[in-house]
Amino acid sequence: MTMTPARYRVTDRRVETADTVTLELHPLDTPIEAPLPGQFTMIYVYGVGEVPISVSGLAGARGIVHTVRAVGAVTDAVCAAGPGDLLGLRGPFGTDWGVPAPAGHDLVIMAGGIGLAPLRPVIRHAIVQRHRYGRVAVLIGARTPGELLYPDEYGSWRDAGLEVLVTVDRADGGWPGRVGVVTTLMDAVRFDPAAATGFVCGPELMMHFGALALTDRGLPPAAVRVSLERNMRCGIALCGHCQLGPLLVCRDGPVVGYDRAAPLMAVKEL
Ligand SMILES: Cc1cc2nc3c(=O)[nH]c(=O)nc-3n(C[C@H](O)[C@H](O)[C@H](O)COP(=O)(O)OP(=O)(O)OC[C@H]3O[C@@H](n4cnc5c(N)ncnc54)[C@H](O)[C@@H]3O)c2cc1C
Ligand code: FES
Repeated sequence: MTMTPARYRVTDRRVETADTVTLELHPLDTPIEAPLPGQFTMIYVYGVGEVPISVSGLAGARGIVHTVRAVGAVTDAVCAAGPGDLLGLRGPFGTDWGVPAPAGHDLVIMAGGIGLAPLRPVIRHAIVQRHRYGRVAVLIGARTPGELLYPDEYGSWRDAGLEVLVTVDRADGGWPGRVGVVTTLMDAVRFDPAAATGFVCGPELMMHFGALALTDRGLPPAAVRVSLERNMRCGIALCGHCQLGPLLVCRDGPVVGYDRAAPLMAVKEL
């Protein structure tokens, strides 16, 4: 069954930004297993191709939510799908973010751009289990205000007791918030490095500097988790397309500790 996509119908489509949409999908066939936060599925667009996409949420009646940025042939086709259209799903695959984190830990969740999508289930978990943790900070960065994902949800995240900090790389005069890369938000965040877990997702360069900002503040590299991206074909450790050093990212990732990821990240050569 892992190589045969299950048919899912698009039941809702929400435009997030100029190039990004969120799709809610419900099964027509036997549903795939419930994904853990951080896992991904392979989405198949019939007649076009297949891409790995992280799960950005769950919906009732075994529904799966994906947030997809259109960057090429297959993601263009996924983003063009609307209510009633059929897509194929395989999975869920890969490692997860490892929540629940240890009780009492502070959580620092740092996202750049589309990287907020795979972290949304961690945010949902932190809200549902708010009592379990100390401080929970969500640091969000985007290139421009118009590229922020889920801005309508930040208010409810704050109401649930999360500290939500937002910055953009570039803004015009109408933007009332902070301007600068996401790591600049670290100045405003307090956490106990001896009892904290970091979650970082975004472009590889951003994850590198995000993880460094956390380890510079005393968090052990193994307590910082990042989500790696590599081109994938099979999703189940058969084809070797996603090889990254000793890792097959579809099986040993996408989520790995920064202690393992640091020597493998492409930014090492920069
Ligand atoms: C585990 C995992 C989870 C992902 N989760 C999401 C998600 O939640 N939302 C989302 O929008 N995207 C996600 N992606 C990225 C998505 O899979 C790629 O954008 C997609 O495969 C591009 O396929 P395409 O046919 O549309 O474009 P292509 O024509 O294949 O590629 C378009 C451009 O994107 C580059 N590219 C392709 N794949 C990748 C990749 N994996 N990493 C970096 N650059 C790439 C290509 O080099 C090219 O420049 C994830 C990738 C992985 C591995
Ligand atoms: S995608 Fe085939 S081995 Fe990972």
